Amino acid sequence: MKLPRPDSAARSVPCLIAFLIMSVATVGADELRVSALDLSGVTQGWGNPGKDRSVDGNPLKIQGRAFDHGLGTHAESRLVVDLKGSATRFHAWVGVDDEVTGQGAVEFRLVGDGKALWSSGVLKTHDPAREVDANLTGVKRLVLQVTDGGDGMNFDHADWADATITYEGAKPALLVVHEEPYILTPRPSPSPRINGAKVVGVRPGSPFLFTVAATGRKPVTFAAEGLPEGLSLDPATGIITGCTAAKGEHKVKVTATNALGSATRELRIVVGDRLALTPPLGWNSWNCFAGAVNEKNVRDATDAFVNAGLRDHGWTYINIDDFWMTKSGDSDPTLHGPERDAAGKINSNPRFPDMKGLADYIHSKGLKAGLYSSPGPTTCGGCLASYKHEKEDAERFAEWGFDYLKYDWCSYGNVEHGSGRDYYKKPYDLMGRMLRAQPRDILFSLCQYGMDNVWEWGGEVDGNCWRTTGDITDTWGSMAGIGFKQDGHEKFAGPGRWNDPDMLVVGWVGWGPALHPTHLTPSEQYTHITLWSLLSSPLLIGCDLTRLDDFTLNLLTNDEVLDVNQDPLGRPAHRVVKRSNETEVWARPLEDGSIAVGLFNLSEDEATATVSWSEIEAKSPKAVRDLWRQKDLEVSPEGYTVKLPRHGAALIKVTPGA
Ligand code: GLA
Repeated sequence: MKLPRPDSAARSVPCLIAFLIMSVATVGADELRVSALDLSGVTQGWGNPGKDRSVDGNPLKIQGRAFDHGLGTHAESRLVVDLKGSATRFHAWVGVDDEVTGQGAVEFRLVGDGKALWSSGVLKTHDPAREVDANLTGVKRLVLQVTDGGDGMNFDHADWADATITYEGAKPALLVVHEEPYILTPRPSPSPRINGAKVVGVRPGSPFLFTVAATGRKPVTFAAEGLPEGLSLDPATGIITGCTAAKGEHKVKVTATNALGSATRELRIVVGDRLALTPPLGWNSWNCFAGAVNEKNVRDATDAFVNAGLRDHGWTYINIDDFWMTKSGDSDPTLHGPERDAAGKINSNPRFPDMKGLADYIHSKGLKAGLYSSPGPTTCGGCLASYKHEKEDAERFAEWGFDYLKYDWCSYGNVEHGSGRDYYKKPYDLMGRMLRAQPRDILFSLCQYGMDNVWEWGGEVDGNCWRTTGDITDTWGSMAGIGFKQDGHEKFAGPGRWNDPDMLVVGWVGWGPALHPTHLTPSEQYTHITLWSLLSSPLLIGCDLTRLDDFTLNLLTNDEVLDVNQDPLGRPAHRVVKRSNETEVWARPLEDGSIAVGLFNLSEDEATATVSWSEIEAKSPKAVRDLWRQKDLEVSPEGYTVKLPRHGAALIKVTPGA
């Protein structure tokens, strides 16, 4: 798809605005209800903004007090209002809505032209509504912000009740930010380049599958020297298969050749106990198809994955999320069927008539296949799950040929009650042992949203990655709210053990069947991929791959950015500094002794972000490279400074001097 151009309507906007300002100018003060603004501009961490309703669609109520008007939202939430220089006052009652059953904690903030005007402090479920009465004279832009109060965003249903802006003159309006997609990365060279993971783990005796990923003009042929006994490479595809018992680290020289030349690289095959020595890269059906997924979607995604060239950049997994199994009692007959076979092993639903055939198809492309289940009786989508059938289900996943299991939490708490670390570990420990007993390697992904600091013990139950948060959505509030809270978790991750701040929300998403282009702006998408790469997060594309546009594909196929995510040292970034102009710097060491540094602008305007070499302990660097542009930069003796668009990012690699 071609990128859209700015149309002529955009050029006439200033005249239109002038006309609107004149037509609404009035004498004396007027009041504008915040809920009368165009609420499509609200970004929030969960659900949809409620107009005179809570986020769940109920009448607004804070500790028993009802309000007729207001905005019902959910942390992390943001609404930006252009006050047109005419506002004088903001008034509201704020608090956590009574519809919340658990312990929500939020903080309401007003920010005027980048400066804090007012804060509610942390308000919890059942705290009385707090009044805010703020002077807006002289303020041009107002941000209504709700943070998660520092304890994560669960139960954070936040009401700006009876919120009004008093103004004299032009009527304040939602500030709509539109940004055209901009492509930073040059196309891959026609000469061969080997991409993707530089190290891969396999258990002795397990079936091995690894595709040497390479870009370059086709046809590209492949060779490998030093493969452990039992493994062989297909020279036409670069797919290495077989089975080896040769324990230890094998340094294999892989070569990709085309008419323009050859590229070689060392691939380390570690035959031992550990899997996922670099974070998994792949696709998952949830953020696009959700409950509407079927076999055709998955086959189409597999074909599109290969045809778009994702495999050539090291992307590997095709993962089916919820809704491949039966859901009795559902109105949709394609979810009905026998739940289990005579041996108690779980069946797929009629939408997936041949799971083994599907996994074989995915493998035939040199890719790996993933599945989803839950330790409770049902999944989060209400489908059949693995409770009391963990052994049978693990066997079934292995027989079908799956390589990855995402294991949720839903419904477990309804049947097993308890507290403390042992309680939270138990279902994962059980399934971890069942997976280990299978004659194939199945990567184990824990999805319990970070309960009981899962990052501290996920590795002990053989988890290869663990969700650290609730579900992501395609808004700045959700993505940035999750991503910038990962600081501190890096200590617990490393090869084979990854923090997972949830899947990617770029491209066409929508939790099916209706999809839409992500609500993230292009700059926000650069921030998303930059941050998730720095964090060594699993990268699971969540969009419809049959609708990949140039911009999205470009974002997902920058090999130098992906190399940061896949760096074999496996040390995720931490926050180096947070500055008062709402810019941040995150950094991580890389295996070759260089440092990957992300600079981020979290503010509502263009801002200058800067890092000094002393802040990242890089002694007189000899090279600095802009990874999105794949271009070497001039090295300054002090540090690096860059202008970033609103919510934008830069990613550099700094090679320290002697
Ligand atoms: C939970 C998970 C999601 C998805 C759904 C499926 O909400 O966090 O990623 O797997 O379940 O129902």
